[in-house]
Amino acid sequence: MYDIHCHILPGIDDGAQDMEEALQMAEMAVEAGTKVIVATPHCNVPHFYRNYKGEWYYKLMEKFRKALAENDIKITILPGMEVFSTEELPSLICEDKIIMLNNGCSLLMEFGFDDEPDYISYIIQKIIDLKVKPVIAHVERYECIQNNPDIIAEWKKMGCAIQVNKDSFLGLHGIYAEEVAYTLLENEFISVLASDAHGVRYRTPNMMEIEQVLYAQYGEKKIHSLLYENARILCRSRQ
Ligand SMILES: [Fe+2]
Repeated sequence: MYDIHCHILPGIDDGAQDMEEALQMAEMAVEAGTKVIVATPHCNVPHFYRNYKGEWYYKLMEKFRKALAENDIKITILPGMEVFSTEELPSLICEDKIIMLNNGCSLLMEFGFDDEPDYISYIIQKIIDLKVKPVIAHVERYECIQNNPDIIAEWKKMGCAIQVNKDSFLGLHGIYAEEVAYTLLENEFISVLASDAHGVRYRTPNMMEIEQVLYAQYGEKKIHSLLYENARILCRSRQ
């Protein structure tokens, strides 16, 4: 499996708090069958995290990869970030302050849970105009989607990929997120599933939980692309 949304880099946001926890998360992911994780710390969250692209990011990633090798944990870690989508995002991209998924052409973007759909569409269009493919994070948690899941059809038509959290299918983000996650799946609106893991106790990287649940309900054929192929395509690097 691929996991394109995971707060596994140690000590820089509300995910893994230190190297020990990051290694525990990686071990759990390996046991669940995950082969590739994109490390996506929060970025550009007003009043909380800046975490813009810089040498510090790649140094931390190298330190983490080295610790993984020293502990014989076999998993590929790719660069990325989960960027909070503000009016400034287009200029931040132009200033090369944002890391795309595996330095490719796709960007994991989150919005405020109560953002208006027209505002979200407006920002999405500005990003698409820069030839970047938006991957909209955990759409099932947004109020506008819980009220009207059909908005997703418009975002897909614009060229977005749609990411849903595995925990939503398990009811861990509440009943509304759970219901809309299943609605989106049944309407073929989801491009990719991911863990959005923050630790090893709650919001974990154990993707096997969702793989088993959804394979049993929908069959391997329907779910496989959401855990493997679509995610792999979004991680293509720019070459
Ligand atoms: Fe996240």
